[in-house]
Amino acid sequence: MSIEIRHPTPAELPAVFEASTTSFLQRPDIERVAAQFGPVMDPDRTWVAWDGDRACGTFRSWPTELTLPGGGSLPAAAVSGVTVLPTHRRRGILTDMTAAAHAALVEAGEPLAVLIAAEYPIYGRFGYGPATRDARVTVDSRRATVRGERAGSLELAPRDAATRDAIRMVFEAARRQRVGEIRRGDLMWDLDTGLVEDAFEGKRWDGFTVLHHNPAGEVDGYARYTAARGDRVAENLIEVEDLHALDDAAQAELWAYLLSVDLVTTVRAVHRPLSEPLPWLLGDARAVAFDRVRDVLWVRLFDVARALEARAYERAGSLVLEVIDDEPWGGTRRWRLDVGPDGAICRPADASPDLTLPVAALGAAYLGGTRLRDAVRITGVDEHRAGSLAEADALFRTADEPWCSTPF
Ligand SMILES: CC(C)(COP(=O)(O)OP(=O)(O)OC[C@H]1O[C@@H](n2cnc3c(N)ncnc32)[C@H](O)[C@@H]1OP(=O)(O)O)[C@@H](O)C(=O)NCCC(=O)NCCS
Repeated sequence: MSIEIRHPTPAELPAVFEASTTSFLQRPDIERVAAQFGPVMDPDRTWVAWDGDRACGTFRSWPTELTLPGGGSLPAAAVSGVTVLPTHRRRGILTDMTAAAHAALVEAGEPLAVLIAAEYPIYGRFGYGPATRDARVTVDSRRATVRGERAGSLELAPRDAATRDAIRMVFEAARRQRVGEIRRGDLMWDLDTGLVEDAFEGKRWDGFTVLHHNPAGEVDGYARYTAARGDRVAENLIEVEDLHALDDAAQAELWAYLLSVDLVTTVRAVHRPLSEPLPWLLGDARAVAFDRVRDVLWVRLFDVARALEARAYERAGSLVLEVIDDEPWGGTRRWRLDVGPDGAICRPADASPDLTLPVAALGAAYLGGTRLRDAVRITGVDEHRAGSLAEADALFRTADEPWCSTPF
């Protein structure tokens, strides 16, 4: 079997979606999926494996921006649609597509890539490390009362462009305050607010959006949610899909609203940070249960020096890191990282290394949420100077937990 890896032409997009949806066990209307998602696919960022004229593997990325410790950001390639047909698996097709896609991203000067892994064991070998986590939060709303005064006001918003624009503005401000968040694309906003029909689902999003206004009348928070019927008329479930607020007061008032909706006994939010403040807002924190803790954003550093210089650190330190990158264009490189009050400088180094570690471990620790000492339990590490792993661990970690709230 000879497999060719190349970009698709526009006419080939239905074949590409046929391959990716089959691999994800989906059966949507392919023409409609291609019509909706084809225009947002950049051909230069889309890699397809061809077995003759049959698409048998797909790998694409879209440009986004990742918020870093300290509040800075870097462009990031958000990798998605990674599939190989069940008939073509485990023959190295993903490996070859990844090599082609990564080489092109490196060539284009992209500093890093991010993705959400369908299965844990897939991406470590390609240099990605798990950098953020989230959890499902379930609240017994009959037991949960949010403490404190209410200063703002709430509005149930219509499903229209003005609502989309209002919540997008809140999210844009919120994502810049939260390490690990990425920018969402235009189509995602239209789908999430029910402005266009989702070609995969064959229907529009049919949930509710509540806006929070601060005392000056500005929208400073929102929650998007759907409701599911329980066994009895008064035992419904609210599923919170997205909740963002620009300050603690707006966040508390949105939760207070969700927990007070009539005929609802359970409020559930699927992708919340482990540091979700909700339990601390309640008179009875035990009304909240966390489960389904999972890794979310995996980070792959391409330009180690640029990436390490772009983030902020909460303490000073100096380390010589020898970073192993197994990709064909990679190699083993040594970097001196000096972090002081004026920021970080990362330069190529000749000095003997303090630590030798795979690039996946640095990706995992990059956003400050995964401890480096834990990341190297998976990847391995050589500590050449005693104590340097503990120093690096302390240097990379942050007080705040990174969180990526955007599924992609
Ligand atoms: C995940 C997927 C793309 C892998 O494609 P593939 O062409 O079979 O991968 P490769 O043959 O290049 O595999 C490279 C290596 O990774 C391993 N690997 C690949 N997928 C794996 C998985 N899901 N679990 C564990 N190991 C995996 C292979 O065993 C192989 O290891 P080896 O080199 O030691 O033999 C494919 O199985 C798939 O489409 N799965 C369903 C959709 C999906 O989960 N996509 C990922 C979305 S994030």
